[in-house]
Amino acid sequence: MEKKYEKAWLSYRRSRNAQNTGHFGSVFTNGTGVVAETAVSELQGAAKELLGCHMERGSWEEASVRLILEPNCGLGEEGYEIRESAGRLTVASEGERGLLYGVFACIRLLQGEKPLEGLSVRKIPSAPLRMLNHWDNMDGSIERGYSGDSFFFREDKVLVDDRTRAYARLASSVGINAVVINNVNVKGSATRLIEDDYSRELEAMSEIFAGYGIALYLSINFAAPMELGGHESADPCDPQVQQWWKEKAADLYGRLPGFGGFLVKADSEGRPGPFTYGRTHAEGANMLADAVASYGGRIIWRCFVYNCQQDWRDKKTDRAKSGYDNFMPLDGKFRDNVILQIKNGPMDFQVREPVSPLFGGLEHTNSMLEVQIAQEYTGQQRHVCYLLPMFKQVLEFKTCCREDHDRVRDIVTGRTFGQTNCGIVAVANTGDDENWTGHDLAAANLFGFGRLSFDMDLSVEEIAEEWIACTFGNDPEIMEKISKILMMSWPTYEKYTSPLGIGWMVNPGYHYGPNVDGYEYDRWGTYHRADHKGIGVDRSPTGTGYSEQYRRQNADMYGKRENCPEELLLFFHHIPYDYRLSIGKTLIQHIYDTHFEGASEAKEMLDIWNSLESKVPETVFERVQKRMEHQASHAEEWRDQINTYFYRKSMIPDEQGRKIY
Ligand code: GCU
Repeated sequence: MEKKYEKAWLSYRRSRNAQNTGHFGSVFTNGTGVVAETAVSELQGAAKELLGCHMERGSWEEASVRLILEPNCGLGEEGYEIRESAGRLTVASEGERGLLYGVFACIRLLQGEKPLEGLSVRKIPSAPLRMLNHWDNMDGSIERGYSGDSFFFREDKVLVDDRTRAYARLASSVGINAVVINNVNVKGSATRLIEDDYSRELEAMSEIFAGYGIALYLSINFAAPMELGGHESADPCDPQVQQWWKEKAADLYGRLPGFGGFLVKADSEGRPGPFTYGRTHAEGANMLADAVASYGGRIIWRCFVYNCQQDWRDKKTDRAKSGYDNFMPLDGKFRDNVILQIKNGPMDFQVREPVSPLFGGLEHTNSMLEVQIAQEYTGQQRHVCYLLPMFKQVLEFKTCCREDHDRVRDIVTGRTFGQTNCGIVAVANTGDDENWTGHDLAAANLFGFGRLSFDMDLSVEEIAEEWIACTFGNDPEIMEKISKILMMSWPTYEKYTSPLGIGWMVNPGYHYGPNVDGYEYDRWGTYHRADHKGIGVDRSPTGTGYSEQYRRQNADMYGKRENCPEELLLFFHHIPYDYRLSIGKTLIQHIYDTHFEGASEAKEMLDIWNSLESKVPETVFERVQKRMEHQASHAEEWRDQINTYFYRKSMIPDEQGRKIY
């Protein structure tokens, strides 16, 4: 049975002030493609539900809204301009996708009950590629999925139904233009997605996506020529293997409208890759790139490559170093249609990590920033954790690779090195739960990721407010309280979990809940190195040397403990518990204090939410309340386990004499 689903931020409630109704009498467009059609029908639907206006199609002269393709107007295919004058609204772009994004922008204004008079807005998307990666498996499960099962797959079948369209609407409404539907770990029947077994369904899906300006991508298995094609190897330099991929590409691009290309996780966590054949990642990626190049296809190649069998005695090997070690020597060796996909930090989506040194390191290689809105290590959508402030910090980080235009955002938008194949991608947080994201407030991350990738000038507060207005309406009390919860949530989560950038104090495997030593004695190379004197991983030049992977200025900042930003102190240095932080407290006291604060803030967020009863729809209120009650008590568990661990290790009591077990 199909599960029901809600419309998330596209649930239009009737506007209380109808000041904008006059603008929505009729609509004209000179676009003739499917995306222009989508733009018109989205506008008509929203005008009806928000304002009660039945918009007819009108001529250029008479229409009150004109969606106009204007060649060479400097906006590009995806940029748009919205102009209002004398009761008429014009949305202009060079491409139909721009018109669609412009329409969704108008709809957001209506949802926010903003006046349209005299409006003049011009937006060109910051990142060329704005992508979602779904880690959905063909059996319907989702790797690191916290909001139900997949709506793309079930029991080895590809699902295409109303929900596919509803999903495409949500994604496109915030500017997403590319989607990978299957898990990066491609095994079993997922390897067959590129065969024609699934051609009918994938064709239907890519058609729906194309109507919303979204390109479908598939994750592939590097060993597919062996598993599907009966070849003896998957060696990228073997002409037969090359030919096999060429034929696959010809077939896929021949039948899937707007097909984007492949995402590849190779030589990582047990997945096959070019290393098996003594080939480099550049050779692997380029072979695939050549197969898709003539169709304008892209190969997105992940840099999440590390040795997950590390010996703990070996204090020089450092998982954090592996991305850079593996890919820097290949800078400049990749084809133009290869994009390296780099996780924001060198480890794995922890609550706080430094920015990967590949950003600012690579100069001649297209790169894309990968973040995770699936909250694998940040509360798994049972805890509220608004991640946009983290993403914003990453994007604003100055890599020091140039005098200016050296921030991560400059690199991934092509400003630094003039690249056009670049962008930003998030591991998605959706599933077939009624509200899409399990936790209703986690939808702010999905919405926000799209909005930020489209417009990196937006502040995280503005994004939160937009999402709240679209989802819950414009009541100032709701706005203020939910904004407060969202803005508190990441710092709060950080406070009651692992301290000062050390990460990893979760239960191994499923990554939920506190387990300080869970990973310490495991094989994954993720340590905190706590003993009775101190804690932290020495990644300075005299330690693992990771800090040296940054450009000089940043290497000096991270490499010396007195210069290191304190929120990352334990990521870079092994610090004695009695070390005094700049705020005047000892490290151990800081650990205790933040954990008490974090747990009490989790309770405070619950209280704020509880005060919204009767203000937000009952089902939503109850769903969120249940999760926030869990969060508040789980935060206490975190507090107690972390504090107890460090108290017993250090034997230094809390200055305030609070209860530590
Ligand atoms: C993490 C995550 C895995 C995932 C991997 C990846 O390690 O726990 O489930 O496959 O990242 O990004 O490839």
